[in-house]
Amino acid sequence: MEKKLRIAVYPGSFDPLTNGHIDIIDRGRKIFDKIIIAVLHNPSKKALFSVDERVGMIKKTFKNGKNGNSIEVDSFGGLLVEYAEMKNAIAVLRGMRAISDFENEFQMALMNRRLSRKVQTVFLMTGLRWIFTSSSIIKEAAQFGGDIASMVSNPVKLKLEEKFEKFKKRK
Ligand code: PNS
Repeated sequence: MEKKLRIAVYPGSFDPLTNGHIDIIDRGRKIFDKIIIAVLHNPSKKALFSVDERVGMIKKTFKNGKNGNSIEVDSFGGLLVEYAEMKNAIAVLRGMRAISDFENEFQMALMNRRLSRKVQTVFLMTGLRWIFTSSSIIKEAAQFGGDIASMVSNPVKLKLEEKFEKFKKRK
């Protein structure tokens, strides 16, 4: 009998993907057969990068690894649990950095559980070195020329430089 793949959806804004996200994905891959990195398409939330740009950066980041079929990059809109069910996922993977993440994550997990009993939320703790990184703080540092090379993958670094170079030229 064919073994059923244990699939997890790792959802987020990923505006952009950081090394903290990659750390969670690497940890998740030790538990699940496949991780679907799913970028939320949310027109009401202002983002620096378009969904296509975000998906593109994530795909480039994972392109050279020995991923086989263990990583899929996608985007979704609407309800996360409906998307997860559609993808036959058994879990939603979320990273937890500090206590400050807890309240919001707890609320989302409980809401998702109300909405679907088929999908479990699995929290993984980020490595200590990524506790203080976030997409927003990285964007802020990059905007003012800060060195963010150790906090993001090379494709993300290049794209941030390109984006802020464009902004500089417009001034
Ligand atoms: O990286 P983020 O912005 O913290 O990710 C938030 C995300 C995408 C996980 C959350 O906004 C989400 O799941 N949105 C989809 C809409 C949904 O299902 N809402 C109900 C549960 S809160």
